Amino acid sequence: MRASWSPVLVVLLPTFAAAGLVDQVERALLSITDCGTCHSALPTFKAVANLGDAAFVRTITAACIDLKIEDPDVCEGAIRTQGPILAHDLRHFSLWGQTATKFCEAVFGLCEPPAVNAYEVPFPKPAPENPKTFVSRGRPPFQMMHFSDAHIDRQYTVGAEASCTKPICCRDYEKRSKHVKMPALPFGSRNCDAPTPLADSMLEAAEKFGASAKFSIFTGDVIDHAVWDVSEDGVSQDMQTFSDQMAAILSAPLFPALGNHESAPTNSFPRNTTEHEITSEWVFNAQRAGWSQWIGEEATKQLRHHSGSYSTMAPNMSLRIISLNTQYWYKQNFWLYDSDTQQPDPNGILAFLVQELQAAEDAGERAYIIAHMPPGRGDVMRDQSSYFDQVIQRYKNTIAGQFYGHTHADEFAIGYSNYSEQTAVNAMSVAMIGPALTPMSGNPAFKIYDIDPDTFEIMDARTYRARFYDPHYQLEPTWELLYSARELYGPIVPSFSGKGPLNPAFWHDLTEVFHKNDTAFQTYIANKPRGREFIWSPCQGACKEGTLCEMRTLRSDVCGRMSGPIFHLPANGGTHGVLHMDSCDGSGIGHILRKIIQKASSSSFSTLELSELGGHLEQTVLAM
Ligand SMILES: *[C@@H]1O[C@H](CO)[C@@H](O)[C@H](O)[C@H]1NC(C)=O
Ligand SMILES: *[C@@H]1O[C@H](CO)[C@@H](O)[C@H](O)[C@H]1NC(C)=O
Ligand SMILES: *[C@@H]1O[C@H](CO)[C@@H](O)[C@H](O)[C@H]1NC(C)=O
Ligand SMILES: *[C@@H]1O[C@H](CO)[C@@H](O)[C@H](O)[C@H]1NC(C)=O
Repeated sequence: MRASWSPVLVVLLPTFAAAGLVDQVERALLSITDCGTCHSALPTFKAVANLGDAAFVRTITAACIDLKIEDPDVCEGAIRTQGPILAHDLRHFSLWGQTATKFCEAVFGLCEPPAVNAYEVPFPKPAPENPKTFVSRGRPPFQMMHFSDAHIDRQYTVGAEASCTKPICCRDYEKRSKHVKMPALPFGSRNCDAPTPLADSMLEAAEKFGASAKFSIFTGDVIDHAVWDVSEDGVSQDMQTFSDQMAAILSAPLFPALGNHESAPTNSFPRNTTEHEITSEWVFNAQRAGWSQWIGEEATKQLRHHSGSYSTMAPNMSLRIISLNTQYWYKQNFWLYDSDTQQPDPNGILAFLVQELQAAEDAGERAYIIAHMPPGRGDVMRDQSSYFDQVIQRYKNTIAGQFYGHTHADEFAIGYSNYSEQTAVNAMSVAMIGPALTPMSGNPAFKIYDIDPDTFEIMDARTYRARFYDPHYQLEPTWELLYSARELYGPIVPSFSGKGPLNPAFWHDLTEVFHKNDTAFQTYIANKPRGREFIWSPCQGACKEGTLCEMRTLRSDVCGRMSGPIFHLPANGGTHGVLHMDSCDGSGIGHILRKIIQKASSSSFSTLELSELGGHLEQTVLAM
């Protein structure tokens, strides 16, 4: 008798145990409403993590499927790849320490991030007393092109379903389903990433408008948003394909930077102190294979030694391009929570930046910093953002420009020498951000700058875009100038003489105009997604306040909780700007866990708030 039912027990027991675990984890998740309850739930998660990665992944996956957070394959893929990183963290940090608070903030968005830990970045030399002055000789500017956030989906299938239940569509998920409601179109669809021909179309247009460009920059994110379905081989291949595509079309050299999507699992960049079988070596190898043709031998070597960062000279110019892997400062890189020890400079990225800026200063060169993550947004670790600010302050005379992507918006942000006194005089650096190619976030776009060849200051910034809703777009996108910053903003900035560069003081004075002139401000808002057709409501109230704050910081602790999690925004939080500050990892495990606790707290929201929130979430989640 016994022998006949014991195998059944053997099969059933783990299932019962697992069901109990799932139940406990679900209850723990649903109990999380604020920072304190997040801390209180951590012992449950830690206990599951202590059973091993497999048990952790199984349990969270079961909860995700059970609560219908995403399609089962999305739950399964996202948690299988990213879950082990969270489990590793939970086994390594103590429950009530600073890392636990940072973890609760990054994963659930529910804690105020701890104040910046005091740290003085070491500099090899003090700032020179009589810094070199860079004077324009009035020579004609040269052109530099800026591409970002391509997010090309190499599995994009024309005719596949463009309206699906997954975070991105236009893939042949159903294997030739006969009942396509909305077929994927040749040059992209709104719920999908960029098809290959759209990237070709943009690069060909750029080659036309920027025929005389001396070089281009790409500020990261080649890979699509199907984060539940990424692999090392797939990401390496897609990086190489994009490099080949750029090289085939662009005649001038390209200087790329690494995005958070250039990894598998997405956002995964272990620190050199992390003991785990996952490493980023393969990413750095993929960079080397694709980028060496443009960046030269020395810089190619640096990619490995400096975790995906490099420095090289712009062709025939006294301009140093410093490309940083900013993912070690990204809150959604969950490896950053795997120890209670606070590391001021994970993998030495800041030290590398200082070394290269010092070399530039010593040689009397100027420098551009190019990277994926704008340092002043809510999704950047406060510590590293603040230390980065120290570096910018120290080398403000050398740094002639900063260029970023990640937000998918066409925007700018100013750094100040004194954040308590944000004035034109104190404006010391300006960052140009975005725009993106992927049609998910607006009209596909890129930028061309006019640059003074002596000072390397920006004389003009022009945004080119293809209108997605143009009736001919799907036959052949038409690329055209959307605006020139000099022509559009120059005349409304009273201090601007019409001559001279668009320097940090100019951009500061423009923010003064935006404070006073709502028409001008709303124009800026419409330009962020490269067209008014992507604006559903005017940006007012908290949205406006947040956007104005964001423009005036390169430090992530300045806009405070305004740059916090989306579900803490007031219901009238608007649809732009503020929401882009949300830390966002596409549709990865963080997104899934936030959706679970959002589900729990939804009973306390009115239906209207909830539906607004849903819309916001969708936009934000797909935004980065
Ligand atoms: C740099 O200058 C040299 C000599 O003037 C010229 O032959 C070369 O084509 C230039 N390279 C680039 C990339 O402009
Ligand atoms: C990690 O990288 C930093 C910066 O390059 C270096 O100083 C440190 O020794 C490295 N640590 C380990 C354990 O490799
Ligand atoms: C920064 O500005 C504040 C407010 O005006 C002022 O009190 C402070 O002295 C300034 N700090 C420095 C270092 O100049
Ligand atoms: C406000 O800005 C718009 C441009 O966006 C400009 O046409 C208008 O003259 C400005 N209004 C004032 C009062 O300066």
